[in-house]
Amino acid sequence: MKEVSLKQLLNTMTIDEKIGQLIQLAPFFFQDSIKGEITGPMRDIGIDVDKIKYVGNVLGIGGAKEKRMIQEDYLAHHPNKIPLLFMGDIIHGYKTIFPIPLALGCSWNKDLVKETARVAAKEASVAGLHVTFSPMVDLVKDPRWGRVMESTGEDPYLNGEFAESMVLGYQSESLDEVGTIAACVKHFAAYGAPEGGRDYNTVDMSKRVLMQYYLPAYQKALDAGAKMVMTSFNSVDGIPATGNRWLLKGILRDSWKFNGVTVSDYGSVVEMVEHRTAENKKDAAKQAFNATLDIEMMSGAYVNHLKTLIENNEVEKAFLDESVYRILSLKNELGLFENPYRFASEEKEKTVHLSKEHRALAKRSAHEASVLLKNDSLLPLNEKQNIVIIGPYSDEHSIMGPWSWQGSETDTISLKQGIEAIIKRPVKTASGTNLKGELTNFDEAITLAKEADVVILALGEPAHYSGEGGSRTNIKLPGKQESLLEAIHQLSKPIVSVLFNGRPLDIKNLNEKSNAILEAWFPGTEGGNALAELLYGYVNPSGRLTMSFPRNVGQVPVYYNHFSTGRPKKNHNYNRYVSHYLDEENSPLYPFGFGLSYTNFEYGTIQASSHVVTEKKGIEVSVEVTNTGKVAGKETVQLYIRDDFASVIRPVKELKGFKQIELNPQEKRTVTFKIKDSMLGFIDQSLNKTVEPGTFKIYVGNHSETSAFIEITYKNKV
Ligand code: BGC
Ligand code: BGC
Repeated sequence: MKEVSLKQLLNTMTIDEKIGQLIQLAPFFFQDSIKGEITGPMRDIGIDVDKIKYVGNVLGIGGAKEKRMIQEDYLAHHPNKIPLLFMGDIIHGYKTIFPIPLALGCSWNKDLVKETARVAAKEASVAGLHVTFSPMVDLVKDPRWGRVMESTGEDPYLNGEFAESMVLGYQSESLDEVGTIAACVKHFAAYGAPEGGRDYNTVDMSKRVLMQYYLPAYQKALDAGAKMVMTSFNSVDGIPATGNRWLLKGILRDSWKFNGVTVSDYGSVVEMVEHRTAENKKDAAKQAFNATLDIEMMSGAYVNHLKTLIENNEVEKAFLDESVYRILSLKNELGLFENPYRFASEEKEKTVHLSKEHRALAKRSAHEASVLLKNDSLLPLNEKQNIVIIGPYSDEHSIMGPWSWQGSETDTISLKQGIEAIIKRPVKTASGTNLKGELTNFDEAITLAKEADVVILALGEPAHYSGEGGSRTNIKLPGKQESLLEAIHQLSKPIVSVLFNGRPLDIKNLNEKSNAILEAWFPGTEGGNALAELLYGYVNPSGRLTMSFPRNVGQVPVYYNHFSTGRPKKNHNYNRYVSHYLDEENSPLYPFGFGLSYTNFEYGTIQASSHVVTEKKGIEVSVEVTNTGKVAGKETVQLYIRDDFASVIRPVKELKGFKQIELNPQEKRTVTFKIKDSMLGFIDQSLNKTVEPGTFKIYVGNHSETSAFIEITYKNKV
């Protein structure tokens, strides 16, 4: 539809029709309205059949058939024939499930992440979906928070890179392209920093920290073209994000020039009443609307109060047309006025979902997402070794992780299946405990382990221990899983631990008692096949952590880019009066950026084209990397920068670049990074971007604790 026609359409709409465009409800509302029933949920939200005929957006979905039916029926009753927009959470795949986002992040492979988003979009689009509530780019540092599994980790730069890849994956160059869906970046803003790691809890930080570390990834998603933004449940500087005008209007619309659609999180408009910043639902509607929030998801503030607020001039009236126009424009960009069903096709669902190519990508992404944390030369395994698999994940199919609601366990390959496919003989397994760690066939597991040359121990958390509402104070392996580990360790058999989990865990004990540890996360549909190929050396592990593993939950949050303190712990001589714990190290068990390979990479000395950076002139920093081992492998070369001295406290180091290279044995390659002045900047006390003259250390290495650096100077007046 042409812009003029869209504007004409807007002018013909009644106020009820307009408000309808600002509402999003679950599909059963529409189905119930078809049947003409007033159900409990309808009563809760305060909506009736009459109003539903105007509601413009649907949350969550079934397949193509259901969506076509709902759309068809809706259009038959809608006065202006404005199609419904179908949105849902396609977080790491639709039917073909990829590793959870935290795991995909560990691939450090932007192209791979983009491809997984592209495939997710293809599969979701034939099921009739128009918008996905992804990417989730919340910066996360606290593994007690269950939603760390949805993020790509603790680093602002890396999260921004992946935000861009995902948006480009979902949306491609243009939404006209077949198989695309629109991206909605979330949760704006800083949802990933709840106090104590407890979901929905208070977030409180300085605006400087918010702008420096938490906001950039959302902005990067928008720069990449994301069409929508979802607000977060938490407050930002004392005001719930959903009603926060400084955030939604000031930052998002005025400063970043975002002209797309914003949507609240589930019920977050009326939750302002519980936050006690809105007296009642009407007040909540008023605050959200004045903050320029477009769509209210699953609560009844707009639908029941906006009309009165507008008629009584209690809100800025002009916002209504602006909001509705933004929504109509998105529907138009998706081509819904011409084809309200878009790519929905029951036929295509059959061929596109879980296609051979999609499964192959799922396997490759699980290869690259897994992180080899420890290896006392036990891996790769040899096919002749007599192995058994012990533990609750030994033959478990629930390895897709949270947010895989369209994925099916029956399509998923367990570890046992994957290993049997490689070694071509049956493998014995015994769970010993269930996923929660309650003892099951414990004795059988021990007896079985006695027979083996090598024990593969498949442990972890059940999927629902992470994800939304999945906060934990104890991030050890659940229940008696560690007793299983202890008992098997007593047998003095070599142990390979394979971990299935949605968050960094406290694995200090496991680390001591295992000869090798492969962090598999929730690896998705092809998990078992991918893991078996890694364990047997058909594929060389290359994943690198994007979130630090603590030694102990008491250290949390522990992250690599922490600030300098006035009393850093400097040497090994004991001094009580420095920043430390009496009973534990400061450092994590496994740092950000860390991961092993079956080969070794040696780094030469860091070279620089010049040691002076100016406003106008950047420099190049390079290092030669050699594969000194016996097999080919992929290395992620990481660039960190430390600002030696600044007007505000700066992190000890910050990731500013990375490159992946694949090297054959004995092969070398020089990896070069450009250093520009913008990489040296920060947000100053007045909340402005600045670069201050002075010295900086440039580190290049294979994880965040790397110590090799060169020093450079920034001069701004040359
Ligand atoms: C979650 C969002 C999600 C929405 C819709 C909320 O509970 O916080 O991440 O997109 O539900 O399913
Ligand atoms: C302590 C202060 C104390 C001062 C003088 C410092 O180390 O932090 O609380 O008053 O020493 O003894």
